[in-house]
Amino acid sequence: MLRFDGQTVVITGAGGGLGKTYALFFASRGANVVVNDLGASTNGEGNSSKAADVVVEQIKAAGGKAVANYDSVENGDRIIKTALDAFGAVHILINNAGILRDVSFKNMKDADWDLIMLVHLKGAYRTTKAAWPVFRKQKFGRIINTASAAGLYGSFGQANYSTAKLGLVGFTETLAKEGEKYNIYANVIAPMAASRMTETIMTEDILRALQPDKVVPLVAYLTHAETQETNGIYEVGAGFVAKLRWERSSGAIFKTDDSFTPASILNRWTEIEDFTNAQYPSGPNDFLGLLESAKDMPSNPQGSVPVDVKNKVVI
Ligand code: NAI
Repeated sequence: MLRFDGQTVVITGAGGGLGKTYALFFASRGANVVVNDLGASTNGEGNSSKAADVVVEQIKAAGGKAVANYDSVENGDRIIKTALDAFGAVHILINNAGILRDVSFKNMKDADWDLIMLVHLKGAYRTTKAAWPVFRKQKFGRIINTASAAGLYGSFGQANYSTAKLGLVGFTETLAKEGEKYNIYANVIAPMAASRMTETIMTEDILRALQPDKVVPLVAYLTHAETQETNGIYEVGAGFVAKLRWERSSGAIFKTDDSFTPASILNRWTEIEDFTNAQYPSGPNDFLGLLESAKDMPSNPQGSVPVDVKNKVVI
């Protein structure tokens, strides 16, 4: 049985939904838990200490150790301070707090955009920024960021939310690279779970299959001291757990003389989007070495291009 005795776990947005389920689990496995929750509505309005208090009481009643924190994640340093003040440490950070401001892009207001960026991106940044020096000093840290399928694939009415959620994927990938030599591991999950966030858009049958505790085993595995996993992107829910990775077609290399025209792109379009011999890059610019081979290439053949007859433009 994986246990977390002596570890301090900070969970943002732990007053309900997934965060509450994580908090109860980690406490039941011996961890000290910081239950952060602003007590906001799904669209980020209002605040109340009740959500976090109820979870802390539940943990204590079961013999566990927990403290509440009511700050918004945009003040993430205060959440980490609560952990340090109460338990003298922080080992695991689960950036889970989240809200929605769903609206078609046409009708989206700046406020809808800004608030989503603030809670999801700035919030995860601020907690992580405060925990990072502690992690580095103790040469141990585990971070889970919470993305969404909406971020990975796009989702109607969620331009703000999908942007922030995919941003958390990039954030995690960089934290994983910078943290690895300090034994700081970062992974990102795109969960699917029944919560107040999803209860209005899913049927009862689906919601029954999507209980939040079905996300817990992966989060626990990825945050345990024994795990060697970092830089992973996972979809998880209802008993389904899968890893995602970036895939790139083997692509086409062009000679970069005057023949590198839109028509030369068109000529090799099939190659550009052919995933038969796909590559799985894990860092930027790893293709630059391939460009050596382009030096001795002949000029690029031009495709038979569509002509915009009216404007006499060849694309
Ligand atoms: P939830 O609404 O039940 O829980 C989110 C919690 O975050 C709430 O208790 C809320 O009070 C708290 N919160 C909101 N703003 C906060 C702030 N500024 N500071 C501190 N706490 C704040 O939602 P759920 O479903 O448990 O979502 C948890 C995370 O999982 C979110 O990041 C969400 O975007 C993500 N997610 C959930 C999915 C699902 O199927 N439930 C799907 C994809 C992603």
